[in-house]
Amino acid sequence: MHALKGRIAAFPYPFPEDTYRYSTNVEPANTPNTTAAGGWGATIIDIDEDYHAELAERATVLAADPTRHAVLPHMRPAAWDAMLTVMGELAGAYPDRMSLRNLGGDVWRWHNAILDDTREFRYGDEASLGQEPLAYITTQVQEDIALLDQRNEQLYVDAGVVTFAADWSFGFDVGMSFLEIHGPVPRVRRDGVITRAHDFLKRLQPHQPYRRTNWTLTIGHRLDVSTERYPDWGPDREMIQSVADDEFGRLVNLRVEVQHLIRLPDSGALMFLIRTYMLSLEELATVEDWRVRTAQVLAALPDDMAEYKGIIKYRDRAARWLTEAAPAATGGHSP
Ligand code: HEM
Repeated sequence: MHALKGRIAAFPYPFPEDTYRYSTNVEPANTPNTTAAGGWGATIIDIDEDYHAELAERATVLAADPTRHAVLPHMRPAAWDAMLTVMGELAGAYPDRMSLRNLGGDVWRWHNAILDDTREFRYGDEASLGQEPLAYITTQVQEDIALLDQRNEQLYVDAGVVTFAADWSFGFDVGMSFLEIHGPVPRVRRDGVITRAHDFLKRLQPHQPYRRTNWTLTIGHRLDVSTERYPDWGPDREMIQSVADDEFGRLVNLRVEVQHLIRLPDSGALMFLIRTYMLSLEELATVEDWRVRTAQVLAALPDDMAEYKGIIKYRDRAARWLTEAAPAATGGHSP
């Protein structure tokens, strides 16, 4: 599909089938996935045209609410491990713009030509970097980052910088176990999805990165739909029901998270990267396969899942909107 470029071509379309159910949907990272419009996933860290805007937005969120950043004391080594691992990934993926050089011993030089940012630091020495390492590395990537400690056969979310949470609160969840965090998700206990994921994650080895996608709908191109900001975005779920069709198609976004799961080599902690992409229904409908399949997935999504995702009040309309957006040649009409 050469005509399609940019966000649409690179969108990580998440539905391999016409119905969606929760599953332990992990696959090895670094292998490109092709889609009806293009492809995604050639690199673990993805820099796109929204780089500057999203980094600026993260800075604004953090300035207003410091609880989006936490590193419990025992996770300090893991934060360094995460920073160096992400720098290595960036330098490998974008060698013309990013570089990481070892200057001997523990001393490193990082250069990001996009931001014109250079740091020389001694690994483990916060003063030499000038900042807590997880806070620094999330000024270089669009991904949110959570770090999980593994102890007593369990994983605990004990560090992170998460500014673009989809309807959850990092500040509330920090320190909680992986199993506790997934407690509110319907079905997954019964289906064994989360216990299987937990077992899988506990066995994950360094240098074997995995990834998965998760999705929901978001009204407006709003990255920060955290629980903390609910008063700002919650009322949109009512508002959207009364807007005109063309506005509905522009405002409702399919929101997809590409999540990477990486065992850090030095600390043994688990790094969870969350990268958020959005495409409006209007954009989605320009790719015929996506239009048809997304309509089917939304229409067939069980109520408990739609309720949990917070989309129950408008998912039927979204499915209808996509169905009615069929190209004229196939018998439909533009909404
Ligand atoms: C939500 C599965 C890894 C944090 C969910 C949901 C599923 C899921 C099915 C519900 C999503 C929805 O309906 O929109 C998995 C699987 C994983 C995984 C299969 C690994 C293979 C992680 C990790 C974290 C995490 C490593 C660490 C931070 C969350 C949070 C939520 C969530 C915070 C929202 C919970 C809430 O409603 O408060 N996960 N997850 N997940 N997951 Fe995971």
